Amino acid sequence: MTFDDFSPLIVGNWKMNGLQAALGEISALCAKPALGVEMVVCPPATLLASARIRLGDSPIALGGQDCHEKASGPFTGSISAEMLKDAGCLYVIVGHSERRTLLGETDAIVQAKVCAAWRADLTAIVCVGETRQQREAGEAFAVVREQVRRSLPPSLTPERLVIAYEPVFAIGTGLTPTLDDIAQMHAEIRAQLHTMWGEKSTRVRILYGGSVKPSNAGAILNLPNVNGALIGGASLKASEFLEIAASYKHVDA
Ligand code: PGA
Repeated sequence: MTFDDFSPLIVGNWKMNGLQAALGEISALCAKPALGVEMVVCPPATLLASARIRLGDSPIALGGQDCHEKASGPFTGSISAEMLKDAGCLYVIVGHSERRTLLGETDAIVQAKVCAAWRADLTAIVCVGETRQQREAGEAFAVVREQVRRSLPPSLTPERLVIAYEPVFAIGTGLTPTLDDIAQMHAEIRAQLHTMWGEKSTRVRILYGGSVKPSNAGAILNLPNVNGALIGGASLKASEFLEIAASYKHVDA
């Protein structure tokens, strides 16, 4: 199966979960990948090499959960985009809110990581999203627009960029914004990308993330300007992840 730059994209972020035994879930994914959507799995770094072997010639791609902005050097514990590429990754998540909040990653750091991803020929999945307080204060659009503006490099490689809108209060909580809120924010991000890069930006995919599960995926994935999903908890079980991926209805279906 081949994918163009704009197939719906379903990404599983395992976060700091998964020992060797979890590789069975990768094998289960390969046994029955969802048709017509592009799937990416981002296990912890310790499993990347074995996951790559399990994926074999399956159309499911491998991604890292973060990268350092430098290619190599004295950065104990860090992994470069080049190392991810070398381990068989095609994607890397950058700027996840857990890293922005817990590790103090700024938009400028995120932007440097996007450049690093592109240098290594990886597709960067750049996460943005407001906190509950910012939403309640009516600042959500301004905050997310600004994150998009400041986290992305000045010149665009559209086929190497994916945005993931993940409102912080929806991550791992079981809570999601309303469908209207999601659709409005995706339209806002689409407009911001257009302001920055014009027509070229229409090929950038915008994913929704935050408590996506089989029961709500169909409604979310079929909203306008929602081009896929970034999934945490529900990506740990192959059966749930596949069910979510299968919720995307093609326009011509
Ligand atoms: P969740 O996480 O699906 O467990 O809410 C999403 C994410 O953090 O990417």
